Amino acid sequence: MTGAGMSVESGIPAFRGRDGLWTKFGQPPMDGFRRFREDPSDWWQRRVNREMDEHIIHLRDALLAAQPHAGHHALARLEQTGMVKHVVTQNIDGLDLKAGLKNLIEIHGNRSRLRCIGCGNRTHIGDFIPQEPPEPCGTCGGIVKFDTVMFGEPVPADTMAKAREQIDLADCILVVGTSATVRPASGLLWIAKANGARLIEVNPAETKLTGVCDVVARATAGQAMPSLVERLAGTTATPLGLPSARQALAVPATTSVPPVK
Ligand code: APR
Repeated sequence: MTGAGMSVESGIPAFRGRDGLWTKFGQPPMDGFRRFREDPSDWWQRRVNREMDEHIIHLRDALLAAQPHAGHHALARLEQTGMVKHVVTQNIDGLDLKAGLKNLIEIHGNRSRLRCIGCGNRTHIGDFIPQEPPEPCGTCGGIVKFDTVMFGEPVPADTMAKAREQIDLADCILVVGTSATVRPASGLLWIAKANGARLIEVNPAETKLTGVCDVVARATAGQAMPSLVERLAGTTATPLGLPSARQALAVPATTSVPPVK
């Protein structure tokens, strides 16, 4: 499970914590989705006219410019070696896909897609920014929005079902760069813990989850992930398990790890 911290070293700010967007500019209203549904064409028109808060424009520009860093490539490598079976991300940046990851569930959607809120049909738009409100859905005539999940919007049922299925299968979860504060994503981690899964946290700062993690790497994603791959290279432990993770991160349970120079 990854969060905004996974992409900070790609130039995309996180939301919470010291340099977080919401910390600096305040959390946006929690009823974004209700406001969209009240008047979708007005919402889109203001988008087209860039009538948005400065920090949202900054975030959008950072998303457009971002490229995967060594941490994203390391995660894709762990998948290729069979050590990681699936990734659930809260990020909308698509950097994991750009790094070659195959089995990804984007629980908050993806910025380069549109989605119909009627039938759920998704269309890929890449880096294109709509210059006018999109046409109604070609399948059901429904209202079309960005695929990204707004505050107050339920995570699409198909996405949630896939995420829950993977969480229930997991016996060990690598939790990278999330404050574990936003539901339903953070709730999935507690469910996994209750199911007996082991949790490995990679985060330079303490989080709500730290206390229930089996291994804690106090490091950034760009530091810890390549080191994990490096140290796991040649080990036969597939999928990633606690002993191999502890060995690779060279830590006994719940002890902080100095960043790898
Ligand atoms: N590497 C790893 N972790 C990092 C790094 C880094 N380079 N930099 C910061 N972090 C950690 C922070 O310490 C923090 O715990 O990443 C976490 C980011 O937390 P949030 O900003 O709360 O991001 P996230 O948990 O993904 O937020 C969940 O909230 O605002 C909504 O929709 C948004 O998907 C987002 C959701």
